[in-house]
This record gives sequence, structure tokens and C-alpha cells, in this order.
Amino acid sequence: PVMIGLVAVLGYLLGSVPFGLVITRLFGLGDLRQIGSGNIGATNVLRTGNKPAALATLLLDSGKGAIAVLIARHFLGETAAQVAGGAAFLGHLYPVWLGFKGGKGVATFFGTMLALAWPVGIAACLVWLATAFVSRISSLSALVAAAATVPLAYFLNHRDLMLLAAGLAVLIFWRHRANIQRLATGSEPKIGKKG
Ligand code: G3P
Repeated sequence: PVMIGLVAVLGYLLGSVPFGLVITRLFGLGDLRQIGSGNIGATNVLRTGNKPAALATLLLDSGKGAIAVLIARHFLGETAAQVAGGAAFLGHLYPVWLGFKGGKGVATFFGTMLALAWPVGIAACLVWLATAFVSRISSLSALVAAAATVPLAYFLNHRDLMLLAAGLAVLIFWRHRANIQRLATGSEPKIGKKG
């Protein structure tokens, strides 16, 4: 239990590094909080028009979830890996450094799932890509992919992952409240557009 607690704290701290803010500052792209949706994720970094910065944010925000899982699994096994991934996700959503006002967790969710069970992670990414291909809307793709991950884990025989996937999906929906409202009124911008 002490070790699991330590895993949770370290996972949270890793997850709470807001790479979108770090990258946009490094690239001199202004205050991400004042751009587009105001979110700290890759989708909003793309609204600055800087694709490398958005890609770096996507890779680093997903990477922190994956790294948390892989380190915890290496030392303590599968349960610790799930705890670390979940904690990193919570760190991204509620970072202590930003007064607990963080991101929406989509990239970190994908990184965590890829590291926990890569077939489930790949399948979830494909659902995101397919939805984005059709709709060109990042938030909608995230919502569809997050919801799909629970049945995907079931059918791909990673049933141990369903509870975590469901919990994280609920939080992703919760964090997309404003997006869901914009989707309902048809005012959610397409990927890369300022909105
Ligand atoms: O990853 C977050 C994405 O689903 C929505 O981002 O900036 O359009 O609210 P944003």
C-alpha cells in the first residue's frame, strides 16, 4: 500500500506537467490560455498555427501517461501500472501547479491506454482518427474514442482495463462539458480552425 501510494503521487506529479503551456512558451506562441478554447492540450496548441508545437504537445502529454505506466509496471507490476496511468491522467486534469485547472486528458488517456494494453490503445486511436476524418472535430473524436474504449477493452480481452477506462472516459466527458454544448449548438470549430 505504501508503494502504491508512492506510485500514485509520482504518477500524478508526472501527469501534472502541462506540456502544452511549456511548449507554447518555449516556441514564443503567446499565452495558450488566451487562445481558442483556452485549453492546454495539443488541439488548442494547433490553433496557434504551429504544427510542430502541437505535435510535440501531443507526444509529450501522451508520453507522460505511457512513461508512468511503464515505470510502475517495471518495478511493481500490473496493478501499479494502472494506478500510475490513472494518477498521471488526474495530474493532467487537475495539476497542483495551475491551481488544479488543467486539461481535458485526451492525449494522456491515449498514452496510458497504449502502455497498459497496446491493442486497446491502438484501437482507441483508430476510432479517434476515423471520427476526425469524418467530422474534422477534435472534441467529438475524443468523446467517441473514450466511450469506445470500454467495449474495445472487453472485445480485445483486456477486461481488467474496463473499470479504469470507464472512469477515465467519464472524466473526459466531464471535462468536455463546454465542447459538448458547442457540439449541440453546432458551433464547435473544426481541427486547426480558431473557432
Ligand atoms: O483534447 C482536447 C480536445 O478534445 C478538445 O480541445 O481545445 O477543442 O477544447 P479543445
